[in-house]
Amino acid sequence: MIQLKKKFAVLGHPISHSLSPRIHQHFATQFGIHLDYQRIDVESTNFKKILSGLKQEGYEGLNITLPLKNLAYEICDELSSKADYTKSVNTISIKNNKLIGDTTDGLGLVTDLLTKNVSLENKKILVIGAGGASNGVMCDLISQRPQSIFLTNRTITKSHDMSEYWSSLAKDNNVLLDILNLKEDITFDLIINATSSSLGNDSAIFPENLNGYFWYDMMYGKQTPFLLKAEQNKAKFSDGLGMLVEQAAAAFNIWHHQKPDTKSIYQIL
Ligand code: ATR
Repeated sequence: MIQLKKKFAVLGHPISHSLSPRIHQHFATQFGIHLDYQRIDVESTNFKKILSGLKQEGYEGLNITLPLKNLAYEICDELSSKADYTKSVNTISIKNNKLIGDTTDGLGLVTDLLTKNVSLENKKILVIGAGGASNGVMCDLISQRPQSIFLTNRTITKSHDMSEYWSSLAKDNNVLLDILNLKEDITFDLIINATSSSLGNDSAIFPENLNGYFWYDMMYGKQTPFLLKAEQNKAKFSDGLGMLVEQAAAAFNIWHHQKPDTKSIYQIL
């Protein structure tokens, strides 16, 4: 009997280097699931039209990456509470012709950190960046109940807006949320780079003299100025490949109700 393949895809721009098809195919083989997982290059202007086409074609789920996560949040018919809070969608399930949006980026980050034995509870964390990527992981960071989360950004007013937005969730979880004060000399347990500074042509702008035990760049696949700084400071560091894998595992679980083993994928990637 021929088994029909379930149709999934990752949408974004640029998309040609996305590792998501390989990751999801690898997970699917663990459960004998037959997947057709495509990369589809989509820009913001034609996103809505493409989504309705994919619905017609019987796609069951979509991963959404840059620059479409916020637009996906606006377009989805239903949202998980986390997607609603973060205003970001990276995982869409298509059911009964409805687009149901969720976000697994924050869970991906936290799972990867915990796998690397970087605990967050009662720790001091610095988050650099105040765009979609940093806001997208705040729910999960706060829910780990660190002692404090400090925010900083090239455009500092955006950190203030971000701090205001997350203040009540932080307060409910007993987490001190503050803006980095450059005059204070704090050694952070964890410094997270959530900026897109290594994507563009501008030079990366970070606060001088950062001190931290563990430096995590949400980007992966290149030696970023941030990771170089970590190396110069003789700190431990990691790029965001594990976050990519873990957010994919969480998306896989939403679609297929199965938790894949993530350790074996690294040899393949
Ligand atoms: P994303 O969804 O990837 O977060 P974004 O919403 O455009 O994208 O946000 C990009 C973030 O990276 C912002 O915090 C941005 O700082 P500004 O608010 O000052 O623009 C930050 N960023 C981009 N280029 C940077 C650079 N060269 N140095 C430092 N921060 C940078």
